[in-house]
Amino acid sequence: MPVLSIEGLTVRLGKREILTDVALSVEAGSFVAIVGSSGSGKSTLFNVVLGLTKPRRGSVSIRGGKVRHGLSRSSAKQRSESIGVVFQAGHLLPELDPVENVVLAGLLGGLPADVAHERAKTLLASLGIESQARSVAEFSGGEQQRIAVARALINRPPLLIADEPTGSLDPANRDNVVAMLRQVPRDYDCALVVVTHDPEVAAQADQRYILERGHLLRGEDCLGTPSASSGAAV
Ligand SMILES: Nc1ncnc2c1ncn2[C@@H]1O[C@H](COP(=O)(O)OP(=O)(O)O)[C@@H](O)[C@H]1O
Ligand SMILES: [Mg+2]
Repeated sequence: MPVLSIEGLTVRLGKREILTDVALSVEAGSFVAIVGSSGSGKSTLFNVVLGLTKPRRGSVSIRGGKVRHGLSRSSAKQRSESIGVVFQAGHLLPELDPVENVVLAGLLGGLPADVAHERAKTLLASLGIESQARSVAEFSGGEQQRIAVARALINRPPLLIADEPTGSLDPANRDNVVAMLRQVPRDYDCALVVVTHDPEVAAQADQRYILERGHLLRGEDCLGTPSASSGAAV
């Protein structure tokens, strides 16, 4: 069973159809990149996956369970258990240290304090952040994204989604963060979906899709290469 399954998704915002009949299936252990220019609907797609925006048609399932759309307590709980989210600029709590930032997400996800602490330290160390008692504001942009990934993983979600995770980084930090991200699906047994406008980031993914005029196309479909019929990713 795929971790993420999107079928026939059509989304309207105001009078515009932003997404048209979008389908996507992502397996555990795989890294999928969705590229699209600014305004192509990448964040809209994530908002639907998160249950924050209601589609006009179609469905989103995570490990076979349909995502409920709305702001109810039950949909928030479903979201926190099944999806880890990384944003463009960390959205960490700047005065707290890395461990505190990660632990807090664990506590909000219902972990006992000792388990949250243990997991936070292990995750941060494995993602290359030594536990240091200084505020995250003092860490580099690349380090902050590692901390944000640790925070997204602490509740062991089957799905990790990242919206322009390298959008605020210089090329060196970008490469470093992408190299870290590509290990995540295997090391943490989850599916990773990254939306980005950066082709260098997409180049590292196992499969690439392009969001264009509301349609989600497989990388090779849109490049028109002969491998399209074999179903292999570009
Ligand atoms: N609430 C809204 N009402 C109408 N249009 C919206 C709304 N939110 C976003 N849009 C439009 O939807 C399109 C897709 O936005 P978005 O998903 O944020 O794109 P991306 O993340 O790819 O840059 C944009 O043209 C944006 O202006
Ligand atoms: Mg966006």
